[in-house]
Amino acid sequence: MTPLHKVIINKNTNINPIWIMRQAGRYLPEFREIRKENPNFINLCLDEKLSSEITLQPIERFDLDAAIIFSDILMLPYGLNQKVEFKKNFGPILGELNIKEMSKLDEVDFVKKVFPVYKAIKKVSTNSILKNKNTIGFVGAPWTLLVYMINQQSPKKNLKKDFFNDDFLINRVLLILEKFLKVHIKNQIDNGANVIQIFDSWAGLLDEKDLPNYIYTPTLNLVNFVKSLGVPVICFPREIKNYKEFCEIVKPDAISIDYNVDPKDILKNIKIPVQGGLDPKILLTDKETLKKEAIKYLDIFKDHPYIFNLGHGVLPETKPEMVECLVDVVKNY
Ligand code: CP3
Repeated sequence: MTPLHKVIINKNTNINPIWIMRQAGRYLPEFREIRKENPNFINLCLDEKLSSEITLQPIERFDLDAAIIFSDILMLPYGLNQKVEFKKNFGPILGELNIKEMSKLDEVDFVKKVFPVYKAIKKVSTNSILKNKNTIGFVGAPWTLLVYMINQQSPKKNLKKDFFNDDFLINRVLLILEKFLKVHIKNQIDNGANVIQIFDSWAGLLDEKDLPNYIYTPTLNLVNFVKSLGVPVICFPREIKNYKEFCEIVKPDAISIDYNVDPKDILKNIKIPVQGGLDPKILLTDKETLKKEAIKYLDIFKDHPYIFNLGHGVLPETKPEMVECLVDVVKNY
């Protein structure tokens, strides 16, 4: 059994596996080199040779316990024929959402559009460098994808004022998302993903009263689907107002926490395996501070099944040697 599976499935508390959100990305010079030659981000995700190479870059450098496939949560709206572009220093920009067209789309056409993602997963998961390590497949949660698809760009702090105006549209999109997210998850698992993470980056935008409708119900459907395929599922409902209730209702196999929530509260209130928490900005300080802050999390969760990770993605300005230092601290704890 891999270290991640030991923690998630067997609830082992003697080991602390580590992987890092956005571990395959801009803080690595070898990634930036490939990126420079490939200005179109979506096309890069669809190049199975390059995307599998990028996926393995951090594994070649550091003693990490899992690879996360180099792709993006926005490959889903892309597969649904909504235009997706990434503008430098701005982030994603999505095209008009054509609900009529989207409702007519069938599974075969969707799979055809994103097929290289599955081929890359197959390539990566069968590479001997991942022996005794996991291949993490992932999707965006329905709520976060809905946000991007309707808002057409990152909401930063606020949604469009009329975001909730069209209930009919929202419900149609959520149903379409549920159908195709299941297709996307199943294909990732069939090709070798043996952990699934559901990223709900904008969970924190919702008031508590809206959580059942937009987060609990749609996410629970996906979590149950992943479980039915025999693969553990980790949820990351970033900055959600109520982690405890989320875990009690949605029941993921593990919960990934952000850096604003108090890890001691999490320990007190949550029984399932926990992942993450460390503020990615700590990696921009110095090695002493990094060591101290990482050990804080390791100490708090020393008798709880815990996977080390950050509270959000590693920042592009992070020095690779700081990531190396972090991995050392966790492995030698
Ligand atoms: O290493 C990994 O974690 C795997 C690859 C991965 C990427 N995006 C690659 C990427 C994963 C798991 C994601 C998830 C993702 N994508 C999320 C959820 C996690 C989170 O960060 O909250 C979200 C919200 C997105 C949407 C997205 N993709 C945004 C907002 C941006 C632009 C801003 C940013 O943070 O870079 C992207 C682009 C993106 N996705 C890059 C990478 C490496 C940067 C591309 C570049 O400019 O080189």
